Amino acid sequence: MSEVRFGAYRIVETIGQGAVTTLYKAVQEPLGRVVAVKALKTQIAPTSSFGAQIEREAKILAGLAHPNVVLVLDHGRGASGRPYLALEHVDGPSLDALLAKRKRLPVSVAIAIAIGITRALEHAHERDVVHRDVKPGNVLLAKSGVVKLVDFGIAHKTRGEVEGEEHGEVLVTPSGRVTEEPLGDGFGTPAYMSPEQILGDFVDGRSDLFSLGVVLYQMLTGTRPWESTAERTPGKRAGPPLQRRAPPVPLRERAPDVPRAIDRIVMRLLESAPSSRYASAAVLGEKLEAALRGSTREPPPSVIRAALVEAGFVAAVRGRPSSAGVEILPAQPWSLGRVVLGFALVLGLFLASVLLVARPSRAGSARVGSAPESLLATTEGASGGGLRVVASPWAHVRVDGVLVETTPFARPIPLVPGRHWVQLGHPDSPPVEREVEIGEGQIVTIDVTMPVGLSDAGTGRESP
Ligand SMILES: Nc1ncnc2c1ncn2[C@@H]1O[C@H](COP(=O)(O)OP(=O)(O)O)[C@@H](O)[C@H]1O
Ligand SMILES: [Mg+2]
Repeated sequence: MSEVRFGAYRIVETIGQGAVTTLYKAVQEPLGRVVAVKALKTQIAPTSSFGAQIEREAKILAGLAHPNVVLVLDHGRGASGRPYLALEHVDGPSLDALLAKRKRLPVSVAIAIAIGITRALEHAHERDVVHRDVKPGNVLLAKSGVVKLVDFGIAHKTRGEVEGEEHGEVLVTPSGRVTEEPLGDGFGTPAYMSPEQILGDFVDGRSDLFSLGVVLYQMLTGTRPWESTAERTPGKRAGPPLQRRAPPVPLRERAPDVPRAIDRIVMRLLESAPSSRYASAAVLGEKLEAALRGSTREPPPSVIRAALVEAGFVAAVRGRPSSAGVEILPAQPWSLGRVVLGFALVLGLFLASVLLVARPSRAGSARVGSAPESLLATTEGASGGGLRVVASPWAHVRVDGVLVETTPFARPIPLVPGRHWVQLGHPDSPPVEREVEIGEGQIVTIDVTMPVGLSDAGTGRESP
């Protein structure tokens, strides 16, 4: 029964398994275009309601066209009747996969990802589509740094019909879950659902904003707002009223370094009354963009891309600007071209460091580390500044999202003039963040005591 092709799409490999669907990487023939095929699992009867649901997802997606929403290309049935939809293939990890590696994300990365999700939701909501399943597994991060919202499998059209459908809503419970057949793991977890969705009340776009609030909270703290013993006890489902009636654990209790403005945004998204949240994704998008501008000048895809590089999902592009415009230093500059490039960079950095030494500060030679070239001082204009970090007991130093140094280090990190976002990490401490303004030729010193041993730090497990 297992197909090797669906229509024009030849299966290359399996890339994911949901409760009812299998995701494949495929090639569209004869074009040679790589696509993703989402097909009903072989174990599920094509004639079951789940088959209709795939068709429904295709139709809902067909009404959407936005850079942050996965694009549907086609829909059909395989030779044995298995329904499938063909999607643009997103080359990159899910947010879930990123969070499995980096439990907490730097504030600017979290905000940049949230902006992508918000813009996708804005587009969908304006077309009366509520996603209803916003969670890290349904957010893909293309290697270019672009966010793609996927999985409109339980999306709901609040107005108008999904074309050709008469009883689509009968297939899903008000919480958006299909009820007929045994459900796998990903189903039924209320962790990201709004109170109104859990209770089966009317849901609109503000329900998705709540879910996004949970995702944002998780990106910033490493835990979900209501994550507690109730949800962790195997076999015991967190009862809907219990789980949402109490206010969430304040975000700043778990991540004291998150700026207040961002804390306010997240806590407002988590309000249990929809009317207390933001009125629309558009309004939220403006807030998030203003917040991002407060911490970096980089556009969201550059911020996300740097985080993917840092987490090892994207190989550092050596000496060549990426599509997102982030330039990465050669990590192993041993091939001929790389040696030339590496030499040019080393020369540039050396000259910059010589100029730094010439300043009144005791700046030494430049350090290459793994930082993007764009943020390191270069010879151009010979106007670089530097950053010195004193941390107690010690800290990994990330500059603009990229790991550059671990304290103690004697020589300042050479940086181009302007604002930089510095994150200090220690395994037993919540991250500490600072924004620094480096003037031409200026050496800025940050002196920080890491709050080692504070509450949920380190293991990321929250206190009960
Ligand atoms: N267009 C795509 N390109 C690449 N991978 C995808 C794509 N769509 C989904 N995936 C992968 O497959 C997984 C499951 O897809 P999803 O649409 O969420 O199905 P389900 O309804 O079974 O959860 C996703 O988490 C992601 O890892
Ligand atoms: Mg999914």
